[in-house]
Amino acid sequence: GTPAWHDDATVVVVGSGAAGLMAAVELAGAGVDTMVLSRGRVTDSSTDWAQGGLAAVWSDQDSPDLHVSDTLTAGAGLCAEDSVRILVNEAPAALRRLIELGAVFDKDRTGGIDLHLEGGHHARRILHAGGDQSGHEVERTLVQCVADAVDGPLSVREGVRAVDLLVDAQGRCNGVRALDAQGRLGEVRAASVILATGGISQLWTTSTNPPVATGDGLAMAWRAGAVLSDLEFMQFHPTILVVPADHRIPGDRGVLISEAVRGEGAFLIDHRGTRVMAGLHPLADLAPRDVVSAAEHAHMARTGERNLFLDATAFGAQAWEHKFPSILAMCRERGVDPVTEPIPVRPGAHYHCGGVRADMDGRTSIEGLFAIGEVACTGVQGANRLASNSLTEGLTMGRRVARLIATGKGVPTGPASGGDAARRQLPPQDPALFDAVRRTMTAAGSVLRDARGLDNARRALADRATPAGTLTNATLDATNAAQVAELLLAAAALRRESRGSHRRSDFTERSAQWQCHQDWSLDAHGLP
Ligand code: FAD
Ligand code: SIN
Repeated sequence: GTPAWHDDATVVVVGSGAAGLMAAVELAGAGVDTMVLSRGRVTDSSTDWAQGGLAAVWSDQDSPDLHVSDTLTAGAGLCAEDSVRILVNEAPAALRRLIELGAVFDKDRTGGIDLHLEGGHHARRILHAGGDQSGHEVERTLVQCVADAVDGPLSVREGVRAVDLLVDAQGRCNGVRALDAQGRLGEVRAASVILATGGISQLWTTSTNPPVATGDGLAMAWRAGAVLSDLEFMQFHPTILVVPADHRIPGDRGVLISEAVRGEGAFLIDHRGTRVMAGLHPLADLAPRDVVSAAEHAHMARTGERNLFLDATAFGAQAWEHKFPSILAMCRERGVDPVTEPIPVRPGAHYHCGGVRADMDGRTSIEGLFAIGEVACTGVQGANRLASNSLTEGLTMGRRVARLIATGKGVPTGPASGGDAARRQLPPQDPALFDAVRRTMTAAGSVLRDARGLDNARRALADRATPAGTLTNATLDATNAAQVAELLLAAAALRRESRGSHRRSDFTERSAQWQCHQDWSLDAHGLP
């Protein structure tokens, strides 16, 4: 039907996390008329919740080669080395830019920036803020820049949720359809659209992500005909708090216990106090995340335990309060005191390594459409992202895409023409499907997968699909989650090996034949 409202900008950025806001701030700084859409409040993002910090070569004891090799090793053979090198080389400048914009990182005793260690890193290179509130400092800084720029060419629309991309007859993306806060469907026309919608972890019941992480960007890009890659690689973080039964809060968020806690010496034990990671990997508790989560899963399957414990009691109260104040408070609010008792934990959905295929300037397979941050798949993360490379990637890519668009390189010029809708439309789905997706993905698409589980899951979700009629936030959650789940399950079923964050009990080894990426697009696949 006719859109209820209209808007336009030269560039529309969908999403207000590290990636989207950095792009918007740099574009506005270059005088480009930019509009940011954010489905909730501007700060609703994984970025705001990020704990550990931002990886960059910062000390004399570190080197770009070492950061590159740690990233490639974690990525389990699927990183694009050229892309990784660009990221590693530009990361320090991106962080210096953030500092110039007002970010304050924690200092060591000499007044230099203090560096933490996390899983898979062979050098201290994690910059952090507020102890364990690094992401909040990133978000605070960029939101402040946006607020300072309101009189300029930058605007932010909160409560506006992109629904689909507009693609014209020449296959060029020239805007988005969106639901406003009143639930009215309108459109924003733009010469370029930057997707920066973040991740998909809300597709699992145990998740570290905020409620906005429903995979909208991936679903929209798919319906527009873009190429998606590496969808089966979903990273499960090893340490999500398991809240004791008598302290459960209905509708509670997932609470992450940062890997930096293990970086400071905490270790995983089972109910009997046995070390879980001892002897399993040279880096033990600081092995890459996929290794630790898989080991936890195997240990729990063997013993029948529903959770393990992270023992950080050796830190003492002072170190806890100083280094990890927000984790300490979130645990205590839920009946666990990490100062005196081991923290009950298990793995949970955390980060999507796959995404909309994009180059290191954010260009996708669709002209006029760019993707940056977690929603993108640039080859930097491979089969398993190295800890704290994500915020760094978002900031670096935000700057790179802004530079590309602001200088007009590779970007179509001229006024936005009329836009058709997405190439493929799905009827809005019954909200109950969202819960079915979450249960199904948790059961069959988690740390350990197999052919039977994946096939059953795909069939179960196809059977559950029920059109709902109207487009609302709840029906859109269900529609997008089901779409992304279908693609992820299909990709996981095809990859008959175990690699990085994709593990199968029926194909337990890494296979040289699978040293490749799986691309997905409407043109190549007849999936819904
Ligand atoms: P996000 O920050 O997730 O932002 C996405 C934005 O898109 C949000 O504003 C959202 O509202 C908006 N959006 C989504 N859909 C729509 C739509 N349809 N229309 C309009 N807006 C939409 N990484 C690190 O590097 N270091 C860490 O220490 C770290 N710790 C983490 C801790 C936690 C608890 C979590 C959840 C993640 C952590 N990560 C960490 C991962 C990292 O935070 C994310 O990968 C990163 O912040 C993603 O940034 P982004 O800008 O791509 O997306
Ligand atoms: C953490 O603090 O453990 C999260 C780090 C990350 O996801 O990179």
